[in-house]
Amino acid sequence: MDNVFPSPHPLVAHKLTLLRDKRTDPQTFRDLVRELATLLTYEATADLPTRPKPVETPLAAMTGAEVSDTIGLVPILRAGLGMVEGVWNLLPGAQVWHIGLYRDERTLRPVEYYNKLPVAPTVTLCLVLDPMLATGGSAVATVDILKRWGVKRIKFVGIIGAPEGIAHMQERHPDVPIHLAAIDERLNDNGYILPGLGDAGDRQFGTA
Ligand code: PRP
Ligand code: URA
Repeated sequence: MDNVFPSPHPLVAHKLTLLRDKRTDPQTFRDLVRELATLLTYEATADLPTRPKPVETPLAAMTGAEVSDTIGLVPILRAGLGMVEGVWNLLPGAQVWHIGLYRDERTLRPVEYYNKLPVAPTVTLCLVLDPMLATGGSAVATVDILKRWGVKRIKFVGIIGAPEGIAHMQERHPDVPIHLAAIDERLNDNGYILPGLGDAGDRQFGTA
């Protein structure tokens, strides 16, 4: 699969296994989502452009580097919220622009309920954050919104992807790289990822 990057890192596999475990309580679940978001963002940002930046160490002047993008984090509510803090660990200056979507339980289509983007884009690169890429409807709709906003470069950072959701994203937005902890087997009849981890929003917020 082009432009899809399941993490090869053993720490990611270890933490993902704890996250999947049905006995994991909401607080531990939130900690793991945050830690996975940090690790996956480290991988997803490996190709970011930098520009030269002069710096004086205690001993000498030299030219270092600084990331040249203005970065926007776009958590898809609700479950994407839990990834923001982990990404901020690496990108503390990133802007956060929330997009509210929920899946209609019957059609599995995303329904938009929150979007406060200003008229003109304020960032050069968006990282869309959502732990679950199931049918891909929510991720595709979010990238549609961001492209209409005028953002040219977008990456998706998730935790688990289903082949169906990855294919949907690649068909509609082949230019958007997809970074994941794992690619699972398939969706069940209710649109949940198998083996997955259940409902990522409910498990984070204790609403199961
Ligand atoms: C979950 C998840 C994604 C979406 C994935 O959110 O966090 O946003 O489903 O499914 P899709 O790829 O088929 O669109 P949900 O709609 O359950 O809302 P919630 O986060 O508020 O619980
Ligand atoms: N949303 C979730 O939270 N989990 C899934 O498996 C699919 C969609």
